[in-house]
Amino acid sequence: MLNFINGDWHGEGRDFFDITNPATGEVIGSMPNGTREDVRRAIDAADKAFSNWKELTAEERSHYLERFHQKIVERKEEIAHIITLENGKPLKESKGEVMYAASFVKWYAEEGKRIYGKTVPSKGADHRIQVMKQPVGVVAAITPWNFPAAMITRKLAPALAAGCTFIVKPPKETPLTAAKLMECAREAGIPAGVINMVITPDEAFSETIQQSEQVRKLTFTGSTEVGRLLMKQSADSIKNLSLELGGQAPLVVLDDADVEKAVEGTMASKFRNAGQTCICANRLYVQEGIYDAFVERLKEEVQQLKVGNGLEEDTDIGPLIHQEGLEKVEQHVRDAVKQGATIVVGGKEYESGIGGGTFFEPTLILDAEEGMLCMTEETFGPVVPVQKIHSDEEAVRLANDTPFGLAAYFFTESMSRGTKLAEALDYGIIGWNHGAPSTAQAPFGGMKQSGLGREGGAEGIEAFLETKYLSIGL
Ligand code: SIN
Repeated sequence: MLNFINGDWHGEGRDFFDITNPATGEVIGSMPNGTREDVRRAIDAADKAFSNWKELTAEERSHYLERFHQKIVERKEEIAHIITLENGKPLKESKGEVMYAASFVKWYAEEGKRIYGKTVPSKGADHRIQVMKQPVGVVAAITPWNFPAAMITRKLAPALAAGCTFIVKPPKETPLTAAKLMECAREAGIPAGVINMVITPDEAFSETIQQSEQVRKLTFTGSTEVGRLLMKQSADSIKNLSLELGGQAPLVVLDDADVEKAVEGTMASKFRNAGQTCICANRLYVQEGIYDAFVERLKEEVQQLKVGNGLEEDTDIGPLIHQEGLEKVEQHVRDAVKQGATIVVGGKEYESGIGGGTFFEPTLILDAEEGMLCMTEETFGPVVPVQKIHSDEEAVRLANDTPFGLAAYFFTESMSRGTKLAEALDYGIIGWNHGAPSTAQAPFGGMKQSGLGREGGAEGIEAFLETKYLSIGL
């Protein structure tokens, strides 16, 4: 596979790097290391394509997106297979991700038709004020490996629907999925230059983008550390920025919760993609009245999770993406034990017997406390630490005691307690008796150091629009 620029594949003569399967360590493909020149060519292509793309009617752009959606759905099995090979997640989750990715394209194919301006009552009788929306221009996107397809379409679909053109840099771990999406875009007849993909080292991409006046917006999903750096770099050209950054999600179970609902929600939130999602429950706070019953049921469920190669039918937990991720998880577990926590299930690297894989056992930790790494940093692995709590106030205090604010979850059957909790939690996404809140219809994004802006829903298209007003003298 090669870089996709101006509707064609480029990259002959470049150095190639290998892509490995995290379940086996095997090389599954290779991609060219793109250069700054490749990025500049992609910018020029996107800039050139912008003048025609923005002039299309919303209806015309919608037709292109509909066809793109259809192509992704038609190739669901093939794309899912690639996701599992390069990311490691179980095939059933990969198929779910392809449909999740496609859902953004479908939703924004419609939403693009609802980019409304407005007429505002003016101050004087002698003029009128009209507010209109226009595309921001060329958009650059940097996407992560944990959702190799969906994190591209969640940015790409609203950008295209708004009339912007797009350049994506997928991560080096999962570029093959991105290439499949480019093939779908080409098959859908999306005009050359409207979507481009370059695979370059991180700095080559971000520095070239930041230096360009043609690129008006940068949208990024990844760590807070990198987000901070991009924000600083963006200062010179005052780029419009959207940042989806780290999470550190608390999950609270109050003593009037439905135990089954709470366990089901915890499993759904925590173990998706082996715990490698920004919104997965990172730390649990369980009230004393329900603690024993909840922990007992959770333990049964965690024990049943099957670890293995994602290509096997019954796998629930695939490998972690790389050795570095595995070491971080190990460090969190070691630190918890050192500080007095108790391992009830799992707790160590999983010996898969396949060789080369980076697996960690699904792990349940009790007696977790404030200050432990697993309660203060994003673990990004299949580890659930549980701390016993005594009141709603304590739950809110502990949950909010972090610089992050992406997602939080709580379980209670009380409308009154739940409403108060929802209002008190400083998070952009709240799951109330629900462990899987992500959907194309809703504005995904975080508060505090978890990011800027929202993706998904009506807010997700606003991120790609400029507001302009017209003051008309009569
Ligand atoms: C993420 O981990 O950043 C995305 C998760 C989701 O969309 O549900």
